[in-house]
Amino acid sequence: MALQQYEYGMIGLGTMGRNLALNIGDHGFSMAGFDKDISKAEALDKEAGPRNLRGFNDLNDFLTSLKRPRTILMLVPAGKAVDSIIEELKSRLSPGDLLADCGNSHYSDTDRRKTCLEKEGIRFMGIGVSGGESGARYGPSIMPGGDEQDYNRVAPMLEAIAAKVETAPCVAWLGPGSAGHYVKMVHNGIEYALMQLIAETYHVLKEAGGLSNRELHSLFARWNKGVLKSFLICISAEIFAHTDELTGKDLIDMIRASARQKGTGMWTSQDAFGLHVPIPSVDMAVTQRDMSAMVEERSIAQGLYSGTNASQLLDKEALIAQVEQALQFSTRVTYAQGTSLLYHASAAYGYGLNLAKVSTLWRGGCIIRAELLEDIRKAYEHKPALPNLLLDKVYADALQGLLPAIRNTVKCAVDAGIPIPATMASLSYYESYRREWLPANLIQAQRDYFGAHTYERTDREGVFHTHWETRSSR
Ligand code: 6PG
Repeated sequence: MALQQYEYGMIGLGTMGRNLALNIGDHGFSMAGFDKDISKAEALDKEAGPRNLRGFNDLNDFLTSLKRPRTILMLVPAGKAVDSIIEELKSRLSPGDLLADCGNSHYSDTDRRKTCLEKEGIRFMGIGVSGGESGARYGPSIMPGGDEQDYNRVAPMLEAIAAKVETAPCVAWLGPGSAGHYVKMVHNGIEYALMQLIAETYHVLKEAGGLSNRELHSLFARWNKGVLKSFLICISAEIFAHTDELTGKDLIDMIRASARQKGTGMWTSQDAFGLHVPIPSVDMAVTQRDMSAMVEERSIAQGLYSGTNASQLLDKEALIAQVEQALQFSTRVTYAQGTSLLYHASAAYGYGLNLAKVSTLWRGGCIIRAELLEDIRKAYEHKPALPNLLLDKVYADALQGLLPAIRNTVKCAVDAGIPIPATMASLSYYESYRREWLPANLIQAQRDYFGAHTYERTDREGVFHTHWETRSSR
């Protein structure tokens, strides 16, 4: 048995855990891995090569193999699996050992687990990791939260394995408690919205523009060299060019149009509602995943409403130029919604987030990495306490320049009967946010009318109630 030999431990040797372990091994750190599934422990041994990595299937042997105090990363599916591992570990760990949950845990679970483990003297961190399988292997974006002194224990290793932009590692301590998992949750909410916006753009180009998959591939590849340059645009370009091995057709056309979800986008919306922070582009993306899953009902409805698909081909080049700018607009508005949620959550939960730092570490490795994040970073560096990117002058100027294109895109989609709810939500968010007056005076009056909820006035302080009822409304 290997006695107190390994610097780090990894619990959970699924795709993400194993790839992260290999990445850690590449950078000269030693690591013991544990998985209940012996084949996964063996797979790590097999792939380890010259790296100082070893797989274990026995929890006690694994724990004995680690240097003290132990530093253990955990990459298991969020939810019950995390709690049951912690339950098994609790009596076996010693005060001063550090456990870091690197999965997509809900931030409130992270706070609960941290409090519970710290009663036993066990240190606990919640670390968001983004970038999927290849990110884990070659450089993810890492979002750590917890106590800063605990972060300092793992910082050299995390900085070594993280993605780099120029030479800067995409990792930094973000704040206390569940700050890291909260930022990762919002990252995923933005991810949902960006994916939905790109899918809506595809829908318009395919149905109203008549673009083939080949043309979509070339177009997205071109976009990926310009302002829209990002991971999601890049992979979309590749997807449009992929041939199905089974049929020889374009694979995209063989995929069922019904998207699954693990729930992190929904958590983002739920939390934003709780904090009263509007993020409608994310909400719509979550809604459209649910809508996409209702295949049977939609199929019946299609029969009932046949003939209402008014799609007609529009001038391709003009449409392309317009939707490109519309996508730039909605992408900008989506990041603004996500970071405004972080701004408010930071105050509500005491995270003390530095949004320039968050945008810096989102520039590489993660799913929402994009050229645009450099503008966002600059905006927050210029004004760290900016409540919303829409209040930044440079950002505002860019949005104003793109406004005619998104308005026209929405008009085209409406005329063609193509649903683009997240795009519309992005435009509506902007149209609402940029106005001092919204028609909520009528809502106030209605509430006061039927429920005596009172209202505030524009010309004097205080709350007022009016006896509204007339004979006709009784
Ligand atoms: C990432 C991804 C990753 C995962 C999503 C998928 O940052 O690497 O966000 O965490 O791919 O959780 O989420 P859904 O299954 O909910 O789409």
